[in-house]
Amino acid sequence: MRMSPFLALLLLGACSGRQTSLDPAAQQSSSLMILFMLMLWVCGLAYLLMLGLLGWSLIGRRNKPGQGYSRLFGLWIGFILLGLTVLVTGSFWIDRGLLAQADEASLHIRVTGHQWWWRIEYRTASGWVETANIVHLPLGRTATVELRSADVIHSFWLPNLAGKVDMLPGRSNRMVITPRRAGLFRGQCAEFCGVQHANMALTVQVEKPAAFGRWLAAEAEPAPSVPGQGHDLFMQTSCAVCHRIRGTQAQGRVGPDLTHIASRPMLAGGAVPLTTASLRGWIIDPQGIKPGTLMPAGDLSPQDAQAVARYLEALR
Ligand code: CUA
Repeated sequence: MRMSPFLALLLLGACSGRQTSLDPAAQQSSSLMILFMLMLWVCGLAYLLMLGLLGWSLIGRRNKPGQGYSRLFGLWIGFILLGLTVLVTGSFWIDRGLLAQADEASLHIRVTGHQWWWRIEYRTASGWVETANIVHLPLGRTATVELRSADVIHSFWLPNLAGKVDMLPGRSNRMVITPRRAGLFRGQCAEFCGVQHANMALTVQVEKPAAFGRWLAAEAEPAPSVPGQGHDLFMQTSCAVCHRIRGTQAQGRVGPDLTHIASRPMLAGGAVPLTTASLRGWIIDPQGIKPGTLMPAGDLSPQDAQAVARYLEALR
């Protein structure tokens, strides 16, 4: 039987990509992959054996009833016991491994779920450095990610790198990640958290430790000074009430920190790519891009919105 090229593409395509558990790029996701394969093989074998026995019992009815059954029953029990032992031992060891790595972690990141975006904070020697919707990770170094929620239950899911851990209000959970491959990955909220749950995504960039160090140092700097109409409008209108731009008088904490917004690839929790046009559209009509978003529409004219967009675009 010839497989259609489309089906072949679909099957192959599902095994690699920037948002799939089947293409592990970290130590933790690789361990989980081993556990997945173990479960797949044990349960798949049990399923096939079951079907085989069912077929045999139907076809083999000519045999005298009861003949050979007790031996078969014994074998079946043996298989079940062996399969369950393999699964229990496998999950115990992998679980232990995932927990043990947490102690060696030197990098501490705090991620807080908000409707519908992610507050990302890095602990550094000189305090917390904040960004939003993008997580940079150094290749080969273990990072502990502290997971919290500011409102409802969200779930932090980075399929290529680690499993999925819920973010609960009033509680702090933890995830450990040791990336093994550099690249761009996509994370997604995996717990229904309101109308824009689907547009609650984040970008994960795994890079060499030196590049990561440069990024974190740049991120810790205050925003570049960009005097002009856009800056003035931002500071004088409601923008500054909700957003913080370090180094300016905008110190709002409700929405994402915009200090280096231009260095991020996506806007509005992954809803649209970040461009001047999308920034302007987002400022004028956030509900048009992401219906239900908690960001209110400003009362800026299209020209003023363009000036603010140009200002934000200069915040590298
Ligand atoms: Cu946050 Cu779904």
